[in-house]
Amino acid sequence: MNNRRLRIVGIGGTLREGSTSLGALRWALTAAKEAGADTELLDLQELNLPMYEPGRALQEYEPEAEQFVEALRGADAVLLSTAAYHGTLAGVTKNALDFAQFMARDEEPYLQDKVVGLIATAGGDLAGANAVAAMVHAVHALRGTVAPLTVAIPQAWKQANGDGDISDKGYGERLDKLGRLVIEMTARLRPEVEPEAQSLRASA
Ligand SMILES: Cc1cc2nc3c(=O)[nH]c(=O)nc-3n(C[C@H](O)[C@H](O)[C@H](O)COP(=O)(O)O)c2cc1C
Repeated sequence: MNNRRLRIVGIGGTLREGSTSLGALRWALTAAKEAGADTELLDLQELNLPMYEPGRALQEYEPEAEQFVEALRGADAVLLSTAAYHGTLAGVTKNALDFAQFMARDEEPYLQDKVVGLIATAGGDLAGANAVAAMVHAVHALRGTVAPLTVAIPQAWKQANGDGDISDKGYGERLDKLGRLVIEMTARLRPEVEPEAQSLRASA
């Protein structure tokens, strides 16, 4: 058995300084790390991906696009965090997911056999849940396995500090649970993960 470490990438955040969806993602990713995974944060503001263009080769984009696709390809699991924009997921999140089209012809196409944990932050009460629901559809279309716990944070401006870090204990606990759950599920789904995560599987 190849005991490589389980690898999870976090994709998210908006182009806004102090993004709460990025802060929530950081939190869940830390929980995943504590559960035994190697983690990588793909901060969409930092990556600054161009718009996906059908027919354009990956090598013709800025290097960040290939970096993004390769990180996604190499991941055993994903945490995806969006802001709710106009009742659904933000364009920056959807555009990033569109780059999964470069994985259509992979041996494991798109997000197949990858567990995906979903997070959304919103200004109001309901849009976060709607954004999560929209991401469920997108992840299913990409053949990913949605973790059966999601985190929608309403009135995120109240639940986070100026840096976007989540300050509410209850939502923090939920993000912890999500990070751990994604790792536990991945340990069951993928036999080649590292021993720390294997022991999680045995104890789950
Ligand atoms: C263009 C735009 C559209 C938005 N639409 C909604 C919306 O429909 N419902 C809602 O509750 N909040 C909406 N918001 C508020 C954001 O969801 C909220 O501020 C969120 O926490 C921003 O995420 P961020 O901190 O990661 O940037 C919108 C914000 C922007 C900028």
